[in-house]
Amino acid sequence: MPESTGGGPIAPPPGRPSAERVRGIFSLIAPRYDLFNRLSSLGSDRMWRRATVRAARLNRTSRVLDICAGTGDLSMALARQGRPAEVVGTDFVPEMLEVAEEKARKYRGSTRIVFSVADAQELPFPAASFDVVTVAFGVRNLPDREANFAEVRRVLKAGGRYVILEFSRPPFAPWRWLYHFYLRFVIPAIGGLLTGDRASFRYLNDSIRSFPNQGQLAAELREAGFTAISWEDRTGGIVAIHTAVK
Ligand SMILES: C[S@@+](CC[C@H](N)C(=O)[O-])C[C@H]1O[C@@H](n2cnc3c(N)ncnc32)[C@H](O)[C@@H]1O
Repeated sequence: MPESTGGGPIAPPPGRPSAERVRGIFSLIAPRYDLFNRLSSLGSDRMWRRATVRAARLNRTSRVLDICAGTGDLSMALARQGRPAEVVGTDFVPEMLEVAEEKARKYRGSTRIVFSVADAQELPFPAASFDVVTVAFGVRNLPDREANFAEVRRVLKAGGRYVILEFSRPPFAPWRWLYHFYLRFVIPAIGGLLTGDRASFRYLNDSIRSFPNQGQLAAELREAGFTAISWEDRTGGIVAIHTAVK
């Protein structure tokens, strides 16, 4: 929540997400989000999503919930590559989901794909309704991860998997320094060029740097009651894919 002194809202400290700030950023960048992703990750985001689908271990009867689905790239990869019975993609920014729906309209496979507006901290689904919940680059933007973990546990069936693709901390120091330089200078430049809003992309840099590392995120998931927690680093730990079982 943004703090207020009565004289107007004060921006939260760097990297700390507030729902208003996150909504504002993503409704603004929705039309250019996919292009930004491709450019800023030098095309690696597709590879990371494919690895996330593999970690989800889907079969023909799986029911999958993809939260913070945004423009639907992971939801569509889940359908195309994993071929489950159903993918439900949710996000709290309708402008992002409009882009996702456009992609789903062009899809001709057998998976049922549905997108709907929902807050990842308050999921509008009954308990034990999904075999797998996925999230790509979303958990970092949530003001209350604990609330999200509790909600995901609630909507997962017993034995269901929570698969999280998120930016992380490269363990090899020189690679980490290079990456942090890229985050600090190159990302705001690309983002500013595409949207005219450099500040939002400075937030992105801060939010990545203040996010828990691989082991800390695993500890949070354990604390939330998940078991069999593991992770795999990709691109030298720039991202990590965590898997946790209910
Ligand atoms: C970086 S984008 C990731 C989109 C997509 N998963 C991908 O891989 O490209 C983060 C998304 O999380 C959404 N988001 C952030 N906080 C949310 C919340 N509390 N509830 C639902 N969606 C949220 C944003 O609207 C945005 O679309």
